[in-house]
Amino acid sequence: MQRYENKVAIITGGGGAIGGAIARRLSSEGAAVAVLDQLGDQAERMATELETGGGKAIAVTADITDKPAVEAGVAATLEAYGRIDLLVNNAGYTKSGSIDDLDPDEFNKELNINLTGSYICAAAVLPSMIEAGRGAIVNIGSVNGRVAVGNPAYSAAKAGLYSLTQSLATEYGPKGVRTNMVSPGTIETDIYTWRVRREKNPEIFDVLARWYPVGRVGQPEDVAPAVAFLGADEAGFVNGANLMVDGGLTCGLAPMIEEMILE
Ligand SMILES: NC(=O)c1ccc[n+]([C@@H]2O[C@H](COP(=O)([O-])OP(=O)(O)OC[C@H]3O[C@@H](n4cnc5c(N)ncnc54)[C@H](O)[C@@H]3O)[C@@H](O)[C@H]2O)c1
Repeated sequence: MQRYENKVAIITGGGGAIGGAIARRLSSEGAAVAVLDQLGDQAERMATELETGGGKAIAVTADITDKPAVEAGVAATLEAYGRIDLLVNNAGYTKSGSIDDLDPDEFNKELNINLTGSYICAAAVLPSMIEAGRGAIVNIGSVNGRVAVGNPAYSAAKAGLYSLTQSLATEYGPKGVRTNMVSPGTIETDIYTWRVRREKNPEIFDVLARWYPVGRVGQPEDVAPAVAFLGADEAGFVNGANLMVDGGLTCGLAPMIEEMILE
């Protein structure tokens, strides 16, 4: 199956765990990949890994909140491969676990990276997609955008990202550009908040597993196939969707059901 033969994808945060899994997946399906990350060495490492595996890849060092840097990264991708078929808005960040931890600067920082940064990247790829009359954007949301599970500023940003997904889907669908969202539940990665929680409780992912109807938390490789589907031509009639990749977490309260069943 080579759904991405002759196609080009930009993956923001591509040097990280979920972004890396998405990069590997798209590359294995034939895509040339621009691995965009603010950490240049991580982007380089991932691009080298893809090339060593026989794929085509370039590394782009850019902060997604820096419009000129993002535009330069998009220009470099077009220069290298001549087209952009898919943008995966995956770069994300959160630090503050509760409202009490927040101040306006941190609140704005989390909004800026998770929401404004995704808008900046979308705006940067849209001209070439509109000109080509085709393209896809997949935004990485979170269960936090749907229900309150901590990290309130990040959650507000991810909820806003779904609104942005709907606006993009509606405004650019007629121009051939589809936009969808993938919203993962707990994914075992080293993103800041999980690193801190794991330091406090090394069993954190096992503890959280009981909330998940599938009996486990997710892995980065659980997210990648959903992104690959939404970005591919076969999803041509899927536009503005929010695909939960959360093992059923947000469809019910599994531990509550367990507690209600007394025999
Ligand atoms: N891990 C989870 O449980 C989980 C759950 C739901 C959603 N998500 C989302 O998945 C995405 C990836 O998370 P992850 O767990 O792989 O984290 P990660 O820390 O492994 O990867 C994030 C990557 O984004 C990059 N990045 C951060 N800010 C950036 C910026 N301003 N500009 C450019 N690059 C930037 C980082 O350098 C890093 O390489 C994020 O959007 C996150 O919100 C994660």
